[in-house]
Amino acid sequence: MSRALVVPQPGRDLLPEGWWETTVIPWAAEQTDGKEVQKAIAAVSALEAAWRTMGQDTTELLKGTRILEIRWGELLPPEKGGRGKLSLASDSFGGRENRTTRTRFRQLAEHKRLLMDALHKMDGEKPTRAALLRTIKGDRKTTERARRQREEQAAASTVDKIPWTVKCADFRQFLPACKADVIITDPPYPQKFLPIFTDFAKEAKRFPLVAVMVGQSYLPEVMRRLCEHLTYRWTLAYLTPGGQAVQIFPRKVNTFWKPVLLFGESPDWLGDVCKSDTNDNDKTLHDWGQSVSGMQDLVKRLTKPGQTVCDPFVGGGTTAIASLLCGRSFVGCDVDAAAVATTKKRIAECRK
Ligand SMILES: C[S@@+](CC[C@H](N)C(=O)[O-])C[C@H]1O[C@@H](n2cnc3c(N)ncnc32)[C@H](O)[C@@H]1O
Repeated sequence: MSRALVVPQPGRDLLPEGWWETTVIPWAAEQTDGKEVQKAIAAVSALEAAWRTMGQDTTELLKGTRILEIRWGELLPPEKGGRGKLSLASDSFGGRENRTTRTRFRQLAEHKRLLMDALHKMDGEKPTRAALLRTIKGDRKTTERARRQREEQAAASTVDKIPWTVKCADFRQFLPACKADVIITDPPYPQKFLPIFTDFAKEAKRFPLVAVMVGQSYLPEVMRRLCEHLTYRWTLAYLTPGGQAVQIFPRKVNTFWKPVLLFGESPDWLGDVCKSDTNDNDKTLHDWGQSVSGMQDLVKRLTKPGQTVCDPFVGGGTTAIASLLCGRSFVGCDVDAAAVATTKKRIAECRK
């Protein structure tokens, strides 16, 4: 028979520091009967309530409760037709509360490692359910971000091995034979280039995802031409922060963002704001050059490492560099031979 958890008496005993770790964890680990654990949860919760009314610090008790809940969850019977040691029918919860509690405890047990880490991190903060969840969610985000960064770094470190092709060609000749997972492109903005958008949309419709950075001056006309052949999904805001605002004199506007029109589908959720680094507009390699930082943000949002990006209006090669640095293969073209030469030189330098 296992001994009951020794719980301090309200107003009489002090709780040793680290009680949840030194006492509760070893005790909970020994338990094989959920009912015993439940009794302990009830005892610790009662004590916690009493201490709270007396204005005492209940952090350690709450941590103890969370540990006991995790153990309780571990001792639950399997989801369907289980014959675990604990009979849920005889527990003290009824009806809906029973189900909710069961689910919650099972979830706690499933996320045991995350919870234990969170409990350790929460020094000074009361380990309420809300605070724990906040910490765990934060943890998950941080872990996910770190994983993505590792992935990007590994991909970038092999930049010299990533395949790429850049041709001097009109996009109408280039796109029909091109294979890529996504088109990310930045066609010319002046009015005389508007017909390009119709031809581009016809060629681009067989690509699963198409992102087109556009100017605002002729936006309604550009959208009309693109939407004639492509399925509109969303508009992303591409922010260009800093003191380098482009001034559109005829419209009297200082612009700090550009629309990126998105067509087609992808299985992943998407944030709709991307961003160039501050004052990172680089016109030294091409008069209409974008920043590598901004294009990298776009590439990371729209693709996964190992996929292939296509830019049929490659200009000074910003999308190419951004793609390769993110571990994506690249294919592209430009009708201007000088732009193609710049792009090839840039790629060669980036692979050194
Ligand atoms: C806005 S620039 C691209 C700038 C690029 N994003 C960068 O950061 O350097 C548009 C490019 O489209 C090219 N272009 C124009 N008409 C084209 C066509 N029919 N086929 C392929 N490229 C074309 C231009 O030569 C120009 O380099």
